[in-house]
Amino acid sequence: MSDAAATTGSTGVSAAVKAAAYVRQRVGATWRDPVAGIVLGSGLGGLADRLEDAVRIPFSHVPGFPTATVAGHAGQLLVGTLAGRPVVMLAGRFHMYEGHGAALAAFPVRVLHALGAPVYVASNAAGGIRRTFVPGDLMLIADHMNLMFRNPLSGPTEQGDERFPDMSDPYDPALRALMREAAAAMNIPLQDGVYCGLLGPTYETPAEVRMLERLGADAVGMSTVPEVIMARAIGMRAVAVSCITNKAAGLSHEKLSHQEVMDAGKSVAGRFEALVTEFVRRLP
Ligand code: HPA
Repeated sequence: MSDAAATTGSTGVSAAVKAAAYVRQRVGATWRDPVAGIVLGSGLGGLADRLEDAVRIPFSHVPGFPTATVAGHAGQLLVGTLAGRPVVMLAGRFHMYEGHGAALAAFPVRVLHALGAPVYVASNAAGGIRRTFVPGDLMLIADHMNLMFRNPLSGPTEQGDERFPDMSDPYDPALRALMREAAAAMNIPLQDGVYCGLLGPTYETPAEVRMLERLGADAVGMSTVPEVIMARAIGMRAVAVSCITNKAAGLSHEKLSHQEVMDAGKSVAGRFEALVTEFVRRLP
């Protein structure tokens, strides 16, 4: 299916409203509009265990959601409270390297918006390109580069979407400041950087990593970019954190493997969870 067909069909606003209605109905009388929608990247799903009074809905039950296929992604939508605040979490996401169009990769953001979340919090595992990055570092995404060469907004404009969204501040400056304050309060080192999204599923070659370094990328991954484009187009404020799980190809002697990415994700999980919990506590 082309991105254009996907946009107007099963991944548009009306599909998102339908998915949101199902989630609200599953939660029932205890439903409260979330202060944020949070997506948990590879190896970072542990934050879901901090959720209180959680209602867990498998992705396969959510209308319009395909089943997540990547190892390490449990594929659940969770509704509950974190730091006493109502949130919706997605443990798992839809990657374009799985064969999904950009519009489907960004569809969960539409659903979070339809559920009333004003803030989109993305997290991901990423390879470190900045030479000083080591596995286990956390990077606050200051800006991104879309080297996936796909856009979730291509095709007819959905009702309520901007045709030509401004991307001069894709990652909300006030939310980034709040994330830095949360990090400082928790004594968690957090460095600003530029995330570059590639289609995958191959990891990069050393030549590609040298190219990305020259282009100004600090970290590289295979997600987040379509989601943040969507958040901007529909008026959600976005913030995102990368967990540096490995040095990008050619910057160390190690070969890259998904297992290594997952293991490194687990080693930073505690800090990541504390950071996002504190951030949610501080949200207005
Ligand atoms: N490259 C792309 N995506 C990634 C990497 C990487 O090195 N590590 C984790 N996700």
